[in-house]
Order: sequence, then C-alpha cells, then structure tokens
Amino acid sequence: MSASSRLNNLDAFWMPFTANRQFKQNPRLLVGAEGMRYTTADGRTLLDAAAGLWCVNAGHARPRIVEAVAKQVAELDYAPAFQMGHPKVFELAARLAAMFPSPLDHVFFTNSGSESVDTALKIALAYHRAKGNAGKFRLIGRERGYHGVGFGGISVGGISNNRKTFGTMLTGVDHIRHTHDLARNAYSKGLPEHGAEFADDLEKVIALHDASTIAAVIVEPVAGSTGVLIPPKGYLERLRAICDKHDILLIFDEVITGFGRLGKPFAVDYFGVVPDLVTTAKGITNGTIPMGAVMASKTIYDTFMNGPENMIELFHGYTYSGHPVACAAALATLDTYEEEGLLEKSAETIAYWQDAVHSLKGLPHVIDLRNLGLIGAVELEPIAGAPTKRAFAAFLKAFETGLMIRTTGDIIALSPPLIITKAEIDELFGKLAAVLEAID
Ligand SMILES: Cc1ncc(COP(=O)(O)O)c(C=O)c1O
Repeated sequence: MSASSRLNNLDAFWMPFTANRQFKQNPRLLVGAEGMRYTTADGRTLLDAAAGLWCVNAGHARPRIVEAVAKQVAELDYAPAFQMGHPKVFELAARLAAMFPSPLDHVFFTNSGSESVDTALKIALAYHRAKGNAGKFRLIGRERGYHGVGFGGISVGGISNNRKTFGTMLTGVDHIRHTHDLARNAYSKGLPEHGAEFADDLEKVIALHDASTIAAVIVEPVAGSTGVLIPPKGYLERLRAICDKHDILLIFDEVITGFGRLGKPFAVDYFGVVPDLVTTAKGITNGTIPMGAVMASKTIYDTFMNGPENMIELFHGYTYSGHPVACAAALATLDTYEEEGLLEKSAETIAYWQDAVHSLKGLPHVIDLRNLGLIGAVELEPIAGAPTKRAFAAFLKAFETGLMIRTTGDIIALSPPLIITKAEIDELFGKLAAVLEAID
C-alpha cells in the first residue's frame, strides 16, 4: 500500500462507540480546534456545544496548557509510578485535595474515567476487608448509570447496550432505579421537584441483601451519558443518609460533573453532599492528556496505612498513574480555571443558559428540556419503531450547519466549554432551533 493510500484508508481504525461502516462512507474529520470552535477537514468551523466529550472545559488550545505540556515532555517525559515519584504528582495531589471538602484529602491517579471507576470500586472492597468486614462485597449501581467501559464500570452501570454482550461481568452487583420521571418532572428548570423517594430503593436492596454484604453505592450526581438525568431535590442527601446508617460507602462519579460543569467546582460543592470516594477524569487536564483521579476520604486512606511500613498497602496502580506530562497539563489546567474563574459561574450566567435551553419549548419533536449548571438536554419524541434515529439526524444536521452536539438515544446533550459567551449561547440555540425545524 502506498503512503498516500495508507493515509486515505479509513478501514484499519476500529472506531469506539461509532457506527464504523456508516461513518467511513461519509467521514466527519476534525483537524483543528481553538477556543469554542473546531475546524473540519473541509475547512468549516463548528461551535463546540459538547466541550469535545464533556472534557474541554476551558476551551481548546489554551496557551498555558499547550506550553506546560511541551515543556514537560522535554524535561521529564516519563517517570515510573511504582516505588518512585516526581515533584509534580505530589504538587497536583495536594492541590486537588485542597479543592475538595474535608475529609476527601487523598488522591489516587488513573488515566481515564473508566479506570477511576474501577479503582474506586476496588478501594471500596479492599477498605472493608482491611477493616475486617470482608463480607461486605456487594456493589450497588443504578439503572441507566454510565461508569465507563471497564468490567467494574459496566457491572455497576445500567445501560443495557453497554452490558448485554459482555458475559457475566462482576458478580454481587445490584441496581437501584433511575430517577427519570417525565410524567411528574417534564420541563423542570434546575433540580426536579419530585422523586427524592427513588433513593429509598437503596433500603429495599439492603433489605434484600443485608447491609453486612454491601460495600458501596456508586452514582453519577447528574447522570450524563445516558442523556442528562438531573437528580430530584433531596435525592442525593437521602442516599447519603441511608449509606451512613448502614456503613456503606457512597461513591460519586464526577467524571463529567467535576471541574465546573455545574457552576461550582464539583457536584460535591453544588449539592453539599460529601461522599467517601469521588471519581474524576476529563476536565482534570482539559481533555488534553488522558488522566483521571480518585479522591478518597482520610478514613479510607488511614485504614490502609496500618500493617508493616515496608509493605505495599494497595496492590493496584497503572504504568501511567500520575504521568508527568498529564500532571503538567493538569496543573496548567487548574491555573487556567483559577485565573479565569471558570469553576464558579455567576447566577446570571446560569440563568441565561437556563432560559436559552427552555426557549426550545414548543419546537418540533421536543418532549422535555432540562438543565443544571452549564448542562442542557433536549429530549425528542422517538420515531416510532426507530429509536435514536431522530436524534442522530439532528446530530448530522447540526454538524452540517456548524454546530457540534452530542446525542444518546433520542436525547441531545449540551455541555459547552465553560468559556462560552452570551453571544455564543445565542448562536448555539439559534442553530439548534433551526436543526429541530429541519429534521423529520
Ligand atoms: C460518569 C462517567 N464515568 C465514567 C466515564 C468513563 O470515562 P472514560 O471514557 O474516560 O473512561 C464517563 C465518560 O463519559 C462518565 O461520563
């Protein structure tokens, strides 16, 4: 095969979460990005209404991050992560710990959201064992939950397509119900009024399995990948109370809510509910270099710091845990967030976004609109017998008309970079309204 035909051959790459054959007939290639916009291979620009994939929170090609990455590769490209360290990983851990409320003051580094989830689940199991409660082995997830694609994540996850072809997964897993309730909560602005009692499902699961067998519950504070499900008022507080009552760890999967998405640094801050473990990734490096981090409470960390000092306390870690280049990217990202105040959004900006989301009410196919922080969702009436087709048509039409959106099922999810201006919010919703008018 010649060099040029190799370049133009799209066949070899098995694309993730993509209809490969359809894509390769009519590819959508991105070749550049800056600020709020992508550039396509055919020279058009797209307004990024998805922050890449919920990760580019400070916008694209931010100079501080670009410089920090380039400098770090030249200075220390790699350092082994086991039994050795480098200064930036300790600096980053201390900085992250300072961003979280007490007692979330220890950090375990990973390379993705999926790895963060698997790490948190393993820590939860090992923690109970270290305390002498090895019988606490069950993990509880939620219907429609998305926790990445590792075997742990799909086991506690609740999206059928991500689970059904992969065998038995982890055993000892159960699920509580999701909180989506269109009949009572359609067109809610911010947190829905109804549904705190969905948390009581956890009591039912406890009654069935007994608390002495349950290690942890994992939820996304706001479920993202399943199509943006905002928790009802009081729901997360109730989950926390039930976990406390039964000595069950609560894990918040903040892979998308972390780093400013809700208008506060983390969902932990937005809801004032403090879990025992928090998983993060994506926005930690503004999407530039793969990285994830799991925050663990002091109690959990201290429980491991017991046996002989020469012994490894947790037999877990990745070759690239705390990779120097990722740490440099993360530190520069946190500087950028801080300098520009991106992790705290004013009530005025959030209100502007909320009004813009709800301005789509009454447009063709729309059956619900929901929002929180700088997240928006447009739920469409599915085409009878062809679920997902309508939202995918919207995605294609948007791409054609200069807007990058993300769809799952028949839901359009919006999560722009946090640098979005009011003029760009107007542009986004103007374009999206035209898309909804145009599709069948
Ligand atoms: C809540 C949540 N957890 C985990 C993940 C998995 O992250 P990654 O794709 O980096 O493995 C995602 C990705 O979207 C997510 O939204």
